[in-house]
Amino acid sequence: MDKLEDSQHSNLQEIEQEAFREIGGAKSLDSLESLSTKYLGRKGILTAFLRNIPKLPVEARPSAGKNANLLKLRLEEVFNRLKAEIESNFDSSDQIDVTLPGRAFTRGTLHPVTKISREIISIFTRIGFEIAEGPEVETDYYNFEALNIPKYHPARDMQDTFYVAENIVLRTHTSPTQPRVMQKVNPPVRIIAPGKVYRCDSDVTHTPMFHQVEGLMVDQDVSFGDLKGTLTTFIHKLFDEDISLRFRPSFFPFTEPSAEVDIRCVMCRGKGCRVCSGTGWLEVLGAGMVHPAVFENVGYDTEKYTGFAFGMGIERLAMLKYGIDDLRKFFENDMRFLRQF
Ligand code: PHE
Repeated sequence: MDKLEDSQHSNLQEIEQEAFREIGGAKSLDSLESLSTKYLGRKGILTAFLRNIPKLPVEARPSAGKNANLLKLRLEEVFNRLKAEIESNFDSSDQIDVTLPGRAFTRGTLHPVTKISREIISIFTRIGFEIAEGPEVETDYYNFEALNIPKYHPARDMQDTFYVAENIVLRTHTSPTQPRVMQKVNPPVRIIAPGKVYRCDSDVTHTPMFHQVEGLMVDQDVSFGDLKGTLTTFIHKLFDEDISLRFRPSFFPFTEPSAEVDIRCVMCRGKGCRVCSGTGWLEVLGAGMVHPAVFENVGYDTEKYTGFAFGMGIERLAMLKYGIDDLRKFFENDMRFLRQF
């Protein structure tokens, strides 16, 4: 052993002696933990020694490296063994007060949109409607063409569409589930289709994503009267038996005739308030008799069958039902708000 190698060797020996002396005095997990850090941690003494090896003369490196690594292994082994020993002797009875009450688990609650969706679904399934679903990423064909909204039709501007690709959109309404279902099954059809829809629109009363429920009924002799009866039953069940409805003529390319449906303001019962802007009425849904062009697109016999369809915004209904005055509350995930449902 030459002089340099010798000095490295004694250096390492010193580290080893000091380490074992200190370990011998350690009585607790904490002190073992900090000794482990002192010698083996990222900035530890032995780690520093190992890091320094490349700076030693070439001849000194192999034995210094080997001895230091051996010491490292021994120390690791000792630390682990002592820690395990201390842990197994740990008497929990004087550390944990078993008489303290346990931690309370807070129960989750349903989001108001989920809650009212379920309520809407249950009202319609009780009167014979089945649930249908369609994709949120939709083709131009189902979102527009099949619903009698050709390219360059001004009605496309009514809906601020998010385009994913040339002919692929985020659906702007749940109406594309209508042709999707009708392509698959023959009448009678009685479905509701809840889900997310997207429009490039964002302010106090609009969010880029919101929820709708679509309804569709097709059979022989389905009339506008059936539409009125169905929606009246629905509104009475969702709100109150004495809420009256009003059907206003309107326009949708996929229904003819079309209507917008208002209900008597559920806040002021028609007297006029802030929620209904003093009119006494609230617009809650769009509806109409299925346009023959839509039937033709899915191969239904327009001489034989008639049908009605409707669509409504779920957040809007939830706001009215639960007296929520700001649409944005639905999407902020504030627990204080959500816990109230
Ligand atoms: N899809 C229409 C909308 O989003 C609503 C609607 C559905 C109207 C079905 C008529 C029939 O505004």
